Amino acid sequence: MSRRIAVPAQKVPALDKRALFEAEGNSLALFNVAGQLYAIDDSCPHQGASLCAGRLEGRVIQCCAHGLRFDLSSGYLLNTTGLKVPNYPVEVVNGQVYVVMAGEGAA
Ligand code: FES
Repeated sequence: MSRRIAVPAQKVPALDKRALFEAEGNSLALFNVAGQLYAIDDSCPHQGASLCAGRLEGRVIQCCAHGLRFDLSSGYLLNTTGLKVPNYPVEVVNGQVYVVMAGEGAA
């Protein structure tokens, strides 16, 4: 079961901007790429550097620590499925932005 976490309006990134958002103990990086919102963990799966601070090209974020590049839409390292940053669907309902997170203990 999943749950929707409401993102406060001031945390929703403007067009082509990014923002950090704390959700239930997770630090998430939100990106607005050409009007499309993406949410990923703000922790590189390589060694944990902030991805929100990375270099963005289109919907590809490059970690500023060692340069690995991840597709915001899938979370995967470019050209492989060997490494993935957790990513979350983003929904907009009546102007309210939600990040959809997998539920815990739903086994
Ligand atoms: S910590 Fe991100 S590439 Fe190494």
